[in-house]
Amino acid sequence: MKLLALVSVAAALGNYAVSANPVPKSNNGNNGQGNNGQGNNGHGNNGHSGSTTPVNELYQYSVIAALVDGVASHGTLVKNVMAHGDLGLGTFDSLIGEMVVVDGVVYHAFANKTVTVVDPETIETPFAAVTTFESQIETSAAITNFTGFTASLPTWFGNTSITNHFAAYRLEGTFNLRIRAPGGQCFALESLANVTARQTEWEYTNIEGTMVGFRTPKYAAEVNAAGDHLHFINANRTIAGHVLEVASVGNVDIKLAKITNLHVEVPSEGEFNLAAFV
Ligand SMILES: *[C@@H]1O[C@H](CO)[C@@H](O)[C@H](O)[C@H]1NC(C)=O
Ligand SMILES: *[C@@H]1O[C@H](CO)[C@@H](O)[C@H](O)[C@H]1NC(C)=O
Ligand SMILES: *[C@@H]1O[C@H](CO)[C@@H](O)[C@H](O)[C@H]1NC(C)=O
Ligand SMILES: *[C@@H]1O[C@H](CO)[C@@H](O)[C@H](O)[C@H]1NC(C)=O
Ligand SMILES: *[C@@H]1O[C@H](CO)[C@@H](O)[C@H](O)[C@H]1NC(C)=O
Repeated sequence: MKLLALVSVAAALGNYAVSANPVPKSNNGNNGQGNNGQGNNGHGNNGHSGSTTPVNELYQYSVIAALVDGVASHGTLVKNVMAHGDLGLGTFDSLIGEMVVVDGVVYHAFANKTVTVVDPETIETPFAAVTTFESQIETSAAITNFTGFTASLPTWFGNTSITNHFAAYRLEGTFNLRIRAPGGQCFALESLANVTARQTEWEYTNIEGTMVGFRTPKYAAEVNAAGDHLHFINANRTIAGHVLEVASVGNVDIKLAKITNLHVEVPSEGEFNLAAFV
């Protein structure tokens, strides 16, 4: 069952990072360690709830295995998610498009290549993951390809092992990349794999922008997308999507945080109990 879930998530997301298990080999970018992300600082609330949330805690609404099973007709208001973070990713009702959250602003990337700023008070998400991001490691490096990113991530963490941890990241720079956005479900509970089979994909070269996302360890493969999961938005916020392949143009700025706290909220009713989780 676990393997099937891994495979179906991988197929649906279009990439899957096998744990590269590399040995950290250098101390580059090893500044800023020692903060394991505990404690409140109260930022990242985007003015909505007034609540505080621990830095570098992963908050997510629903689980990826439910999304894979097409549980996406409805969700929670985006403002409920944004009460828990300022950086992240997700999707929208009926799997229409991709969500990118940067600096507390929520963007909606549509399959028709448009990007809008989301009104958190009126728009819902059936799956989203955010964190109140506070980088622990800051470095600069070149990325050869998606697999290379996955292999390099532990080395950027230096002496802090992340083999079995979630991590959050933010990359800024110029990229060559392939991104996608799905157009949405044709019927309730249509599977993510079926929806992404119709997705629109674009390639860009020398595009400046920001990538944000999360690493999910294998044991949590049904909670979030195992491996590395990145969404991109360009500098002027007109192009965005889920990253299928990436290479940097020269070095890019990389900010990383290890995640040791998870806060998972699942839908209280509706389609959630119809997910088969197979
Ligand atoms: C893109 O798609 C969205 C969602 O279907 C729609 O609201 C918007 O009008 C479309 N924009 C253009 C330029 O076609
Ligand atoms: C991906 O990047 C890695 C690390 O830089 C490299 O070893 C590998 O050959 C690259 N793979 C492809 C298909 O380019
Ligand atoms: C990393 O670990 C090595 C070996 O324990 C140590 O010599 C080095 O000072 C550590 N580097 C950092 C930045 O903590
Ligand atoms: C997915 O697509 C297949 C092939 O078109 C179809 O038989 C199946 O009913 C679809 N299932 C879901 C849940 O979307
Ligand atoms: C926004 O940036 C893209 C490249 O990232 C560029 O093609 C486009 O012309 C820019 N649009 C505006 C309005 O500046």
